[in-house]
Amino acid sequence: MTRRSAASAPGKVILSGEHFVVHGSYSLAAAINKRVSVSIKQTAGKSRVVSDGLTSPLSSNDGSFRAVKTVATKILNIIPKSENVPLEISIVSEIPPGSGLGSSAAVSVATAAAMSSFFQLSLNNEDISEIAFHGEKAVHGNPSGIDNQACLRGGLILFRKNSATKSVRIEKPIKLLIVFSGKKRSTSRLIEKVARRRTEFPNYFQKLVSSASDLSLELVDSVESGDTHKIGSLFTIAQSELSWIGVSTNRLESLIDFVLSQHAVLGAKLTGAGGGGSIIAAIQEGSGDNVLNAILPRYHFSFVTEIPQEGLRWED
Ligand code: PMV
Repeated sequence: MTRRSAASAPGKVILSGEHFVVHGSYSLAAAINKRVSVSIKQTAGKSRVVSDGLTSPLSSNDGSFRAVKTVATKILNIIPKSENVPLEISIVSEIPPGSGLGSSAAVSVATAAAMSSFFQLSLNNEDISEIAFHGEKAVHGNPSGIDNQACLRGGLILFRKNSATKSVRIEKPIKLLIVFSGKKRSTSRLIEKVARRRTEFPNYFQKLVSSASDLSLELVDSVESGDTHKIGSLFTIAQSELSWIGVSTNRLESLIDFVLSQHAVLGAKLTGAGGGGSIIAAIQEGSGDNVLNAILPRYHFSFVTEIPQEGLRWED
């Protein structure tokens, strides 16, 4: 019988603290209702990665499937050589790459889990997160580690670098609107751009880092109490701080203005690295369908997600 394994992980949105989290602030992130599935089977010939009609040898450095190849190779390096068999690693993703919705973290987490299960390694969540983080670094350069934690754990997380990640429990689920601007971008370049801002204005930048931390803690309170109006206001404040550090764009600002002009939208901000990618908005209860109907004709990859969502799922 052909050996097989499979796992899936959700994408994520950052509700507050993106970029500042790389420099030590708190950041709040949540898993979304779009997932990446990875399945692995033993095959003939050379090991390869397959997705959406594209195939690339696992050993090739052609720039494709960088996160998957990095994570799979990490695992192949820890198993005994005698167990190394040719693999076909297949990816099915509901998340556009470069959209700021965590596609590389989700695929890294799902690949680490599917590989672990294929080789019966019994890795725990922390091991999976650590291995997935190598995939994130291969794609994003100097990420904070928030994306792989959000995709692995699911739900809503309060993250700070070098501290234990906390799960934020909410009694009543909340709904968020997510709109992809259509512009893909490179997270690593934006992280470098922000690092240059920090070098130019170290004192001011530090104040923004602590302000982003305070805002994240305030947002935790609002989310816990289900206060959608406050969540919206905090999103809009966070957006100003992200504009100050140069990661918003005219295209994102007009998308945010358009979304804010819709009845029942309470506040909006870019999510993730910016420079394009996606925005999130807080909406009044029960208004998801109406808001989406107004937005979908212009922005085709728009959806409403409920939070919390399940994290890593072992599919076997
Ligand atoms: O993965 P993205 O593009 O959504 O951005 C991640 C958020 C950053 O704070 C910009 C980087 C990081 O690793 O924290």
